[in-house]
Amino acid sequence: MRSNEEIKAAVRARYAQAVREGGGCCGPSGSVTFQEKAFFPLAGYDANELKGLPQEAVAGAFGCGNPLAFAGVEPGQVVLDIGSGAGIDCLLAAERVGPTGRVIGVDMTPEMLRRAEANAAAAGLTNVEFRLGEAERLPLENASVDWVVSNCVINLSPDKPAVFREIHRVLRPGGRLLVADVVADDLPELLRRDLTAWSSCIAGAISEREYAAGLEAAGLADVRVVSRLPYEAGQIAALAAAPEAACGCAAASGVQAEDLAGKVRSASFSARKPAGAGGPTVRAAGAGDLPAIHGLLEGARLPTAGVAEHLADFLVAEEAGRVAGAVGMERAGEVALFRSLVVRQDARRRGIGERLFRALEAVARTRGIKRAYLLTETIEVRCRAWGFTRIPRETVPAALRSSPEFTGCCPASAALMVKDL
Ligand SMILES: C[S@@+](CC[C@H](N)C(=O)[O-])C[C@H]1O[C@@H](n2cnc3c(N)ncnc32)[C@H](O)[C@@H]1O
Repeated sequence: MRSNEEIKAAVRARYAQAVREGGGCCGPSGSVTFQEKAFFPLAGYDANELKGLPQEAVAGAFGCGNPLAFAGVEPGQVVLDIGSGAGIDCLLAAERVGPTGRVIGVDMTPEMLRRAEANAAAAGLTNVEFRLGEAERLPLENASVDWVVSNCVINLSPDKPAVFREIHRVLRPGGRLLVADVVADDLPELLRRDLTAWSSCIAGAISEREYAAGLEAAGLADVRVVSRLPYEAGQIAALAAAPEAACGCAAASGVQAEDLAGKVRSASFSARKPAGAGGPTVRAAGAGDLPAIHGLLEGARLPTAGVAEHLADFLVAEEAGRVAGAVGMERAGEVALFRSLVVRQDARRRGIGERLFRALEAVARTRGIKRAYLLTETIEVRCRAWGFTRIPRETVPAALRSSPEFTGCCPASAALMVKDL
């Protein structure tokens, strides 16, 4: 076995060298041919969003997925990127959080950090900062970030339980994790001891099951695999063909790419830090809650029409004797229109909205609802992360089209979304 320090030194040296040589993920500097043709589309990056980034940031990408594709990051939020490398995901996150939000990239390789800072400066971003530090001892305060994202990094850590604990520590209650990483099953022992294979994101990869169990053991909830990118033999061979390639490459130990086909892939995990024991209780709404629900909706400029009629299908989040949030639905047979998701201003960013929504889904299922619709002008990205898909407005069932929420209350610009329960 290799010591943790040996592994870290090898990984750090590998990425420092990659920066010195100007290499990107599995390709030399300036040549993004492989990435454009195979990697970025495979990983789920949108060609248009990459166009706005400095070429150096794109060419220096070493990821194995696109965690932000699944993250409902919103303006004003704080995002941490663990192992930020040349900064591609930080730059993309900076666009999402906007001038009122903040993005922090942490990386243990000084050369990478300097590259990332140069890329952020070239992009003219002032809401991104990079900190030298290790995933196992993050240089951040407790409960200080809304999102942790990470792309092809945790496999490189020799102490994954420490990384998972750190993620839990720095997330705010209700905060979310989205991580893309290489996972692997049944790797040959010889390969696991190989430092080159380790820094190539293979030897340190654990199975999906171990990954999910590790996140749960650290206290994270709702752990899910949101996407998988299988690497076929041809792809592994293509990745391995670049000698200094640093992700998904199998240039080690005499183990051939073909031996790894079906065993190595990229997976993206989502998870959430529970809102905590001190968080609100979610319960069915009663008549006494109506004024508070109306007050919250009015404060958020959301429609109140129809709430009283559908109160039996409303839930509230109650904390310290006060209503902190509400959500409800209008039912029509086996379909329902979810509506009126609202959280009191001072209770936001703690995952209460998501708790309400998930609780409503559970209630809807027990009431025989097979399909949920919603209209939104402001939280489409978040609803996508919760499993809703945008559909043309005309496709809404006639029974829901005549509901008070649908008629007149919501502007025509609102997106119609659907989810099968
Ligand atoms: C495969 S690259 C991914 C970089 C970036 N996330 C991307 O998608 O382009 C791995 C990065 O993680 C950093 N890294 C590896 N292990 C780390 C650790 N234990 N703590 C902090 N950074 C680490 C490396 O320095 C390198 O920049």
